[in-house]
Amino acid sequence: MPDLSVNFAGIKAPNPFWLASAPPTNSGYQIMKAFDAGWGGAVWKTLGVPVVNVSSRYASVNYKGNRMIGLNNIELITDRPLKDNLREMEEVKKYFPDHAVIASLMVESKAQWHQIVKDVENAGADGIELNFGCPHGMCERGMGSAVGQEPSVLKTIVEWVMEVAKVPVIVKLTPNISDITYPAQAAKEGGADAISLINTIQSLVGVDIDNFVPYPIVDGKSTNGGYCGPAVKPIALNMTKNCAQIPNYDLPISGIGGIETWRDAVEFMLLGASTVQICTAVMHYGFGIIRDLVPGLESYMIDKGFNTIDEMVGKALPNTKTWENLNLKYKVTASIDESKCIGCQLCYTACEDGAHQAIGLKGDEENRIPFIIDENCVGCNLCSLVCPVEECITMVQTDDGKSHNTWKERTEANEIPNDFNDERAGGNGHWIPEPKDALKKKR
Ligand SMILES: Cc1cc2nc3c(=O)[nH]c(=O)nc-3n(C[C@H](O)[C@H](O)[C@H](O)COP(=O)(O)O)c2cc1C
Ligand code: SF4
Ligand code: SF4
Repeated sequence: MPDLSVNFAGIKAPNPFWLASAPPTNSGYQIMKAFDAGWGGAVWKTLGVPVVNVSSRYASVNYKGNRMIGLNNIELITDRPLKDNLREMEEVKKYFPDHAVIASLMVESKAQWHQIVKDVENAGADGIELNFGCPHGMCERGMGSAVGQEPSVLKTIVEWVMEVAKVPVIVKLTPNISDITYPAQAAKEGGADAISLINTIQSLVGVDIDNFVPYPIVDGKSTNGGYCGPAVKPIALNMTKNCAQIPNYDLPISGIGGIETWRDAVEFMLLGASTVQICTAVMHYGFGIIRDLVPGLESYMIDKGFNTIDEMVGKALPNTKTWENLNLKYKVTASIDESKCIGCQLCYTACEDGAHQAIGLKGDEENRIPFIIDENCVGCNLCSLVCPVEECITMVQTDDGKSHNTWKERTEANEIPNDFNDERAGGNGHWIPEPKDALKKKR
């Protein structure tokens, strides 16, 4: 059996699946229940000077029958007194000494940072996470994402914390920034032991068009919130990769954002995360999802021959390049498996109107299977993405597999188009219908 245990910047846990700081970690009761179910760690709901929350607090994006593909919230940090949280934290640690309990913190002044760090350490926290990410409410008060968006301020606060912290310190980053690597660097310069990302993305998920107010509604009014759940995973993956590829960046990364299945978790790990944190999926389906996460990850590791989590961390990074390093000679062309095709012609419409007019119809109502016009196909993938039948359209390699030439190499050899009508334009000579042909074509 592979070893799922982790040592994340000195924080030990039986597995890499941690609850993110959020409603599922609001109390010792919930965290004990989660550990009992099999979770390896938990980042406590952010502690600080307690807030007063509004009602209602959440809104979601439901997409074509799928509930909550994105979740928006306008709740703040903990609304419970610190002493209650500390008492419960101590109790959790008594029952689960080998599980990771991390205290998420957000306060204003240096004195408050010093005080609360000592308080949570005394309560037995194995680590501390600094919440520099909350993009609503708290940022209006100069905390949360207001700090995460200012690398120099972030660094100063990390330094304050490091003056007193005895346990490892994780800096949780906000995605509400143009380049996540700046705060990631600042966290390192401030002396942090690790980073985690992402916190929520500032958002408005919709508007009540009858009453002219966005969701969620608080007495007829609303405000922007923080977006999370499956919809944000691509953004979180990219930011995780960006941080992991900072040259000489040796801080461990805890990946967060839209993780719901073991496969999602593996994707984060392959791009550089050595633990993962989960919020929305637990809010949606409960702590029980750990019963799929752990065995799923174990089977994957057995399948791939990984004995430890560390062996798989960052495995996809060498294959994740900048665009200029991709092979321009590599060519794929769409191919339709006629035995699987149901004749819906969605691929035709997509390619005809949204891509490169490389799919033809036979004009025969008895045989609605489209055909690929190979010489027009640029291999963009769109038809295979819209096709509702699994493996019906596949992309087949059509180059000889031997040539390799990148934009970077072409630039160095001065072989790139450099004026508006340069003959070396990639699409030069590629057949495109005349504009007036658009009026003749009726389906
Ligand atoms: C209702 C709600 C409350 C949250 N509260 C906190 C918080 O107190 N501290 C924090 O660092 N992150 C907070 N988060 C952000 C999550 O920890 C996490 O970063 C984010 O939801 C992305 O993960 P997910 O896609 O798995 O939900 C909250 C998220 C939600 C939905
Ligand atoms: S989208 Fe797929 S199933 Fe539909 S016509 Fe095209 S190939 Fe056939
Ligand atoms: S891969 Fe792109 S260009 Fe080729 S047939 Fe499909 S949609 Fe058209």
